[in-house]
Amino acid sequence: MIVSESRAPWWKRAVIYQIYPRSFQDSNGDGMGDIPGIISRLDYLQMLGIDAIWLSPVFCSPQDDNGYDISDYEDIDPIFGTMEDMDELIREAEKHGIRIIMDLVLNHSSDEHCWFREAKKSRDNPYHDYYIWRDGDGLSPPNDMKASFGGSAWEWVPELGQYYFHQYSRKQPDLNWENPVLRQEIYAMINRWTERGISGYRLDVVDHLGKEPDRCIKVNGPKLHDYLREMSAACFQRSELVTVGEAWSADPETAKLYSNPDGSELSMVFQFEHMILDQRPVGDKWDIVPQDFLALKKIFTRWQTELAGEGWNSLFWDNHDLPRCVSHLGNEDRYRVESAKMLAILLHGMQGTPYVYQGEELGMTNAGDYTLEDYQDIEIRNMIREKRASGMPDEEILRRLRIKGRDNARTPMQWDAGVNASFTTGEPWIRVNPNYTDINAADQVNRDNSVFCCYRELIRLRKRYSIFINGV
Ligand code: GLC
Repeated sequence: MIVSESRAPWWKRAVIYQIYPRSFQDSNGDGMGDIPGIISRLDYLQMLGIDAIWLSPVFCSPQDDNGYDISDYEDIDPIFGTMEDMDELIREAEKHGIRIIMDLVLNHSSDEHCWFREAKKSRDNPYHDYYIWRDGDGLSPPNDMKASFGGSAWEWVPELGQYYFHQYSRKQPDLNWENPVLRQEIYAMINRWTERGISGYRLDVVDHLGKEPDRCIKVNGPKLHDYLREMSAACFQRSELVTVGEAWSADPETAKLYSNPDGSELSMVFQFEHMILDQRPVGDKWDIVPQDFLALKKIFTRWQTELAGEGWNSLFWDNHDLPRCVSHLGNEDRYRVESAKMLAILLHGMQGTPYVYQGEELGMTNAGDYTLEDYQDIEIRNMIREKRASGMPDEEILRRLRIKGRDNARTPMQWDAGVNASFTTGEPWIRVNPNYTDINAADQVNRDNSVFCCYRELIRLRKRYSIFINGV
C-alpha cells in the first residue's frame, strides 16, 4: 500500500527532527544559536524531508540547565529571539511543510519563575503550594533523596523554616502536581501555545509528574496516569497534536498506558532501555560497561512485538542528553560512514516514529578532544566536582566524559568547512568539533553516497511505502 492511502494519524507517518537551538545556527554573531537562525535553515530541513521540528526549550530561562529551567512558559528568551520570531518560525515552517513541536518542562520550573519568587515570600502566599515544601531545622533534610545533578533533593530556605524539593539542580524546584490550581494553570498555558499554531509537545521527564517525595517515589507515582489523562483531555484531544513523553523508567507495560491507541494519554514515549546498556543496574551513569549487542537486539524485538497494535514506539538513537550514536555504538574512526548508515537503516526500518537529532544525519561524532575546561553542561560540571572529591584522577574523569557526557551532542551544527563550521560569525558558546572540515552538510547534501543522502532516502521511502509504518 502506498502511504497516501493510509489512515494513520500524521505523526505515525512522520519523521521528527530535534533542534537544540543554542547549537543549531546563530544569526546575530553572539555565538548562540537562535530562532532566526533556524528559519534560515528551513530549506535544508525541507530537503531532508522531515515533517516536524521538536524544538528544545526556547522559553525565558536563566539557562542553568540550558533552558530546561523555565522562568516564563509564555515568552521567548532574548538569547533565542522574540515572540515575533517564534510566530514567524511557525509560519515559515508551515510553508516548508514542517510543523513545530515545543518542549514542555512541567516537572519543575526555574527558581526565577515568578511563581517560585512568590512561593518563597511566605507560607500563606497563594503560590506557595505550587511547589513542594516540608518543615525542618536546616540541619537534617526530610529524607536522603538525591538530586539528579548531585547533592540532596532538598534545599533549605531559612526565611520560611522549610525545605523545597528539587529532583534536578537547586535552581529547578519541582512543581507540585497535587495542586489542581497549578494543573489548570499549566493546561491553560499549553492551550494558548496550541492556539498560536504549535502542533505538538515533547514532555520533559514526564514519568516524574506523580512523584511522592515523602515515600521517596520519584517516577511512576500512583497518580501519574490520572494526571496524564486529565492533561490529555484538557489539552491534547482537541486537535491532531502529537505528544511524546520522556520516560527513562518506561517499560513496554507502562508504554502501553502512555501510548494507548484510544488517545487517552500521549501519542508515544521516549524509552531508554536501548540506550543504557552500557550502565550497571546499580552505580551511576558514568560507569563504563561494554555494549552488549545481543541484548540490544532483544530489547528492540521486545518493544516492537509488545507494542504492536497496543501502543506506539518512538525510534531514536541521539538527543541532546546522549552521546552521538556513531561514536557510542558504531566505529567513528574506521567505519564512521558505514556505522552511521547502518544505525540509520536499522532504526528507520522499525515500527514507530523516527526522530533525527541535528547532525545525526551527517554522522556527526562525539566532541572528541575536549578538555575538562571545554565542557559547559551543569551535569558535567557537577560530576567533575564530585568525582574529583571522591579521588578520581582527571584523566579518568575525562575518559568517561568523552564517552558519555551530554556535551558530546551539543557541539555546534557543522554546516560547512568555513570558520566555526558557519555556525556563528562570533565566538561559539561551546567549542566546535574540529572535524567539521571533513564532516559537514555542504559536503554531503549533493553527494549520493553520503550519510545525509541515506537519511533523505530513508525518509522518502517511509513517505512512499506504508510497510515502513504498518509493517505490511
Ligand atoms: C530532561 C532533559 C534534560 C534536562 C532534564 C531536567 O532529561 O532532556 O536535558 O536536564 O530533563 O529538566
